[in-house]
Amino acid sequence: MIFAPKAKTILDISPYVGGESKAAGVDRVIKLSSNENPFGPPASVVGAVQNAAKEAHLYPDGGCVDLRRALGDLNGIDPDQIICGAGSDEIIQFLCNAYCAPGDEIIYSAHGFLMYAIYARAAGAVPVSVPELNLKADPEAIAGAVTDKTKIVFLANPNNPTGALLLKDEIRSLREALPENVLLVLDAAYCEYVDDPNYSAGHELVGEFGNVVVTRTFSKIYALGGLRLGWGHCPPEIADILNRIRGPFNVSSVAQAAGLAAVEDQGFVEKSIVHNARMRAQVSETLVKLGLTVYPSAANFILVDFETPERAENCRLALKEQGILVRQVGAYGLPSCLRISLGLDNEMDLACGVIKSYLASS
Ligand SMILES: Cc1ncc(COP(=O)(O)O)c(C=O)c1O
Repeated sequence: MIFAPKAKTILDISPYVGGESKAAGVDRVIKLSSNENPFGPPASVVGAVQNAAKEAHLYPDGGCVDLRRALGDLNGIDPDQIICGAGSDEIIQFLCNAYCAPGDEIIYSAHGFLMYAIYARAAGAVPVSVPELNLKADPEAIAGAVTDKTKIVFLANPNNPTGALLLKDEIRSLREALPENVLLVLDAAYCEYVDDPNYSAGHELVGEFGNVVVTRTFSKIYALGGLRLGWGHCPPEIADILNRIRGPFNVSSVAQAAGLAAVEDQGFVEKSIVHNARMRAQVSETLVKLGLTVYPSAANFILVDFETPERAENCRLALKEQGILVRQVGAYGLPSCLRISLGLDNEMDLACGVIKSYLASS
């Protein structure tokens, strides 16, 4: 190979396949495949995007100063410890690039978010997958998998695609069980949807331990996946390192304006939380009554078990035929399941109706 990549691990990467967004032969698509907010962005945010577009000829503020200040105020954290990115994906990428050298290892849970392994391999590192207990990350097993090569433990909490949750105490115990020189990255992409009072996204641990990073996103509850905006809350030393390696203008001016307006519209966030909690309970109950296993979810999607990969795939195709797109999760080691994002009332009624007909005819 003439243009061999810098690390062999890059050849082990299977490119990420996102949720489907198109279905041939239907005139309307209901996209329940990428955990997006079905309301779409609120009018205040759309207005801010339109205004910012008028100045799209100007480079953005490379330091995202206003946005970081707003995020700092909202979350009670120091803006200097915040780094913004083109999606939280980019923060994960920065962390792997900054802290993993070829031969190093990162740890993630068996059904954890796929991008951890991809960015680790891109940096030359080896992703180590740790078995879960009943589709839930197992802190003891994670701590037990640490070697002298381990640099980062990535944990999505709640996890995608299982929706599983670890509580505050479990996260704290995990941090205490890990060696000091191993960074714990808590990916809180879905934290706003959690209603368990014993949960925390983990911001309080960032200051306390100095080796915890929390990542957050505007792609889910803030309904801005298309603009690519996320952020990380880091100890000062880590923020300094990530600021050295990021692109000078890694977050567009339009994304920054949208993010700022979105932070100011907490009413929209509240409305989305209430809707999601109702849908999650309602759809789970409906599908359980149909005889399916629905794993408990703390997020804006549910993982549904169809018992065999064939049944899952055939149901997915039956939904797709009606323009309803859900997520295959074979790449996550869950081939007999489908992940279904929670949409609007009428969308979920339609989806449940198709699933019911499919089960009746199969
Ligand atoms: C657990 C988790 N983390 C991070 C992301 C990445 O989100 P984004 O890069 O859009 O912020 C996702 C997206 O699906 C996710 O499910």
